[in-house]
Amino acid sequence: DAKPDVTWLGTPISELGRMPDCGQQLPRLKNVSGQHTVLIRTDLLQNGKVPVPYPAKFTDTWDDVHVKMPWSGMNLFPVINEVMNTILKYSAGHAKKWDFTALHSYCTKVNNVHLFMYLFYFFIYLDPAILPPIPLLKGGMNHSITMSQEQVASLLANAFFCSFPRRNSRKTEYLNYPDINFFRLFEGASPKKIEKLKTLMCYFKSVTEQRPTGLVTFTRKSLDRPPNWKSSQSQLTKLHITCEGTIEDDGYGMLQVDFANQFVGGGVIGSGLVQEEIRFLINPELIVSRLFTEALGHKECLIITGTQQYSSYTGYAQSYKWGGSHQDSTPRDGWQRKCTEIVAIDALQFRSFLEQFHPARINRELNKAYCGFARPGERSQNLSAVATGNWGCGVFGGDTRLKALLQMLAAAEAGRDVAYFTFGDSQLMTDVHNMHAFLTARNISVGEVYDLLGQYYSSVCKSCLSRRPDVSLYSFIYQQVSSSLAPDASDSGAARQH
Ligand code: AR6
Repeated sequence: DAKPDVTWLGTPISELGRMPDCGQQLPRLKNVSGQHTVLIRTDLLQNGKVPVPYPAKFTDTWDDVHVKMPWSGMNLFPVINEVMNTILKYSAGHAKKWDFTALHSYCTKVNNVHLFMYLFYFFIYLDPAILPPIPLLKGGMNHSITMSQEQVASLLANAFFCSFPRRNSRKTEYLNYPDINFFRLFEGASPKKIEKLKTLMCYFKSVTEQRPTGLVTFTRKSLDRPPNWKSSQSQLTKLHITCEGTIEDDGYGMLQVDFANQFVGGGVIGSGLVQEEIRFLINPELIVSRLFTEALGHKECLIITGTQQYSSYTGYAQSYKWGGSHQDSTPRDGWQRKCTEIVAIDALQFRSFLEQFHPARINRELNKAYCGFARPGERSQNLSAVATGNWGCGVFGGDTRLKALLQMLAAAEAGRDVAYFTFGDSQLMTDVHNMHAFLTARNISVGEVYDLLGQYYSSVCKSCLSRRPDVSLYSFIYQQVSSSLAPDASDSGAARQH
């Protein structure tokens, strides 16, 4: 069982693939109509130089397929260069309802003088000329947007000033999009809001002091043909599992999982402060995805490549604290993006424990994870490992042992190794490692594990009258596999242990 001195199990983390080392050379960055919108001049792209926006001249776009911009001639509430007034005038209808308690206490208690200095500099970023029309990433689309970190900063400055039209009420055409204007961040007296503001101000301070020079790509991806899980012959891939460290610190260069909401970023602008929200705060460029990413469907994900970490933090949820500015030394790829790839996949939220073992829910979660992990057309050896953990098992109430297994199946099918961070849970580390070792030692395929999950549902969960099943999933798997193979003392030992 769990020994306190053991902090990791399985394959050493040094043996797992990380970018840029494991990757192949990128193709040339270019606009591909209907697939990839690049908002900068690729011919002028150069390490350390601020990218040049492209196209240089564009028409005022106000339609159903692009983001509606604050400076559009069609906007009824045009730009006014005053700080608080800007927020209020843009949103005349909402001004009375809005509450700036959190922003006010941030200014008075924390950073009065500096705040207004940053606000002044923000206006540099409010120049409409640097922002060509941005397509919306709607449900079902497979499309990428690449823009400069400076363009992202400009969009976030506008979000801070709540200037995006049609985005202040969820009753409008953007009903199925996340909130982007920051007004919820400024309301209420919660100390959590102050810590959030400190974290975001650290970002604004950094990008106003020094213009960022990199690019960020946002890719919406939809799974058109889910794998046939039942017949999959794939074998499990390597697993490194540890009860120490975090996805963002120790999974650098890997595909890092964002335990997302279907509205990406979840409660980052409001009151949420768990894994996804924290990641969006320390890498604020992620927040821009909320501007154009419609709610994710069951077989969709959003991949964000190139965001930079500007802050560190301590604590979690209620105890979260801004930890000061962070120097991100992650190298850049051939497209001048930080080699940080984050995938937003939203788990299902479960109200009852048993529900998640239903085959339809299992299929949904497998397909969601597979959509996030698979890179058709790329060779397995060029893919970084997946850095993940208790996806869907905090706020969303999932079972860690089931979810760990599902993620291992999806990663195996996608041909990627896994680095799993249990977030302090050493028993979970031991249990998942033992299960992985047991299955791999017997060459049990993805399809066979999938079948066992189905058996577990029909023979244990379906008839279960209590809230929780009498036999745990892992005990069931140990028993079934051991009894179907030739009896072996070590197998029954494993079954008894669990
Ligand atoms: N690295 C590794 N593991 C972590 C980290 C980290 N940095 N942070 C947390 N964990 P949760 P969910 C572990 O509740 O259940 C948000 O509001 C820790 O064990 O964030 O999928 C979204 O917007 C934690 O309990 O994910 C969604 O609305 C567990 O991961 C909703 O929460 C789950 O983290 C998603 O909830």
